[in-house]
Amino acid sequence: MIKVENLYNTFGHIETAKNIYCHFEQKKVTCILGGSGSGKSTLLKQMVGLGKPTSGKIIFDGQDITTLNRKDMYKLRKKMGMLFQGSALFNSLNIYENVAFPLREHTDLSDNVINTIIKIKLEMVGLRGVEHLMPSQLSGGMTKRVGLARAIVMDPKVVFYDEPTSGLDPIAAGVIDKLIKDLNLKLGVTSIVVSHDVDAALKIADKIIILFYGDIIAEGTPEEIRNSDDPKVIQFINGSPDGPIPFKMTDKDFIEDILDEKI
Ligand SMILES: Nc1ncnc2c1ncn2[C@@H]1O[C@H](COP(=O)(O)OP(=O)(O)OP(=O)(O)O)[C@@H](O)[C@H]1O
Ligand SMILES: [Mg+2]
Repeated sequence: MIKVENLYNTFGHIETAKNIYCHFEQKKVTCILGGSGSGKSTLLKQMVGLGKPTSGKIIFDGQDITTLNRKDMYKLRKKMGMLFQGSALFNSLNIYENVAFPLREHTDLSDNVINTIIKIKLEMVGLRGVEHLMPSQLSGGMTKRVGLARAIVMDPKVVFYDEPTSGLDPIAAGVIDKLIKDLNLKLGVTSIVVSHDVDAALKIADKIIILFYGDIIAEGTPEEIRNSDDPKVIQFINGSPDGPIPFKMTDKDFIEDILDEKI
C-alpha cells in the first residue's frame, strides 16, 4: 500500500532519513519506534505529503507522492487521516467545527449529514456532549480523542498517528491503543503509528520498524523484535541507559560509529 524507497532527507546538517526503504502493508498496524529526534515525525509528515524529502520516493497506491502537485496531493489526502503529535486542533474552533473541518474542506455534504457523521465519530472515540467545548477546555486524553475523531471523519483508508498516547496516563493510553486496534480490525484501516511506547507497539503492531537517527536498525513482527539479539534493539526495547545507544546524542560521528558498530 505504501512504499518508501531510497528516502533521503536533511535539514541543514541533520540527516533525518538516510536512504531508507520500508513498506507498510494494507490493513495492518505498523509501528515506527525510535528515540526523540530520530526522524519519526518528519517521515510521517512526508508520507502524508506535508513537506517533500530531499530525495527518494514515497509510493502511495501506486503513485509517487513526492512528485504530485498541490491539487493532486489535496485529492489524495482524502484517503489519509492524520493524528498529529500534539493533536493540532484549531484553538479558535469548537470541537464540533474541529471534527467537521475536513468534511467542510473536501465535501459538499449538508449540515444534517455532517451532524450525524460528527456524532458517530465522536461516539466512536468515546466522547459525548463535548461538541460545544473549546480545545482549551479538554483534558490531554480528550484532546487526543478529538484529534482521532477528526483523523477518521472522512473514513480514510490509512490513518497516520504521531505519538497518539504520549503524555497520557496508562488507562487513557490503553483506551487509545485499543481504538487504534479496533479501527484496524473492524474497519480495515491501514494504520501507521509513530511512538516511543515500546510495550504498546509490541501489543498492537503487526510489524515494527525501529528508526535510529535516520537509519532503520530493525524491522519485523513484535515476536521478531522481542527475540532480536541486536544489542541496539535489546537496549531500545528494554529502555536501558547502558548499551550501544548513549543517553545523549550530540556527536554525528559518534552516531555513525554506533551504526557502523565500531563501538
Ligand atoms: N522543519 C524542520 N526544519 C529543520 N529541522 C527540522 C524540521 N523538522 C524536524 N527537524 C529536525 O529533524 C530532527 C528530527 O525531527 P523529528 O521531529 O522528525 O523527530 P522525532 O523522531 O519525531 O522526535 P520526537 O520523538 O521528539 O517527536 C530533529 O533534529 C529536528 O530538530
Ligand atoms: Mg515526533
